[in-house]
Amino acid sequence: MLKIGVLISGRGSNLQSLIAACAASGFPAQIACVISNKAEARGLDHARAANIPALVISHRDYADRPAFEAALDAALAQHQVQLVCLAGFMRILTAWFTERWRDRLINIHPSLLPAFPGLDTHQKAIDYGSKLTGCTVHFVRAEMDHGPIILQAAVPVFPEDTEETLSARVLKAEHKAYPTALRLIADNRVNVFEERTFISDVPASDEALFSPPKL
Ligand code: GAR
Repeated sequence: MLKIGVLISGRGSNLQSLIAACAASGFPAQIACVISNKAEARGLDHARAANIPALVISHRDYADRPAFEAALDAALAQHQVQLVCLAGFMRILTAWFTERWRDRLINIHPSLLPAFPGLDTHQKAIDYGSKLTGCTVHFVRAEMDHGPIILQAAVPVFPEDTEETLSARVLKAEHKAYPTALRLIADNRVNVFEERTFISDVPASDEALFSPPKL
């Protein structure tokens, strides 16, 4: 059983998808703790409802980023966490933390990276006129929204989409993508080599995704 720690800042719907996945029999990971940097994060309620230790470590209680990250690191160690999953965690992490947890720290981002890093990804995809967008699960490096990609899921962008309709479609994909990526790691199928991941035993499919659909 791989012990994971989930870091959140808000709603926690991705956390909820990880809780549900880990509750299924035979799933190779368990959530050792959930940590939020915000006391009001709704995701903490999902953790408490599932009897998972739910901690608040507020960045406001620490003098600087290194002190905040040292507290995060200590809590993760205390819960014997082996893999950290960022799930809507909205603090930038320093190179000290990302190196300390190198290849043991993953994030989900709501775009097909390297397109649209940062915030407002859905509006950016709409404004750009992208026909496909999606989500990316990746190992975290010090550079924001950057690092070896583990898995991506694509969804179409429709002409009538708003930020709300598109984010809902991507979020649905996120809720499948994050547990899938976690399972791959927990099953020891993901290797990082020269800043790319290699995943063992993937069934071959060379079908193209079309948006708009192929005529
Ligand atoms: C998700 O869409 C996640 O991909 C995004 O925040 C949302 C959190 O929702 N993360 C980022 O933008 C990180 N760069 P949730 O709290 O319901 O999981």
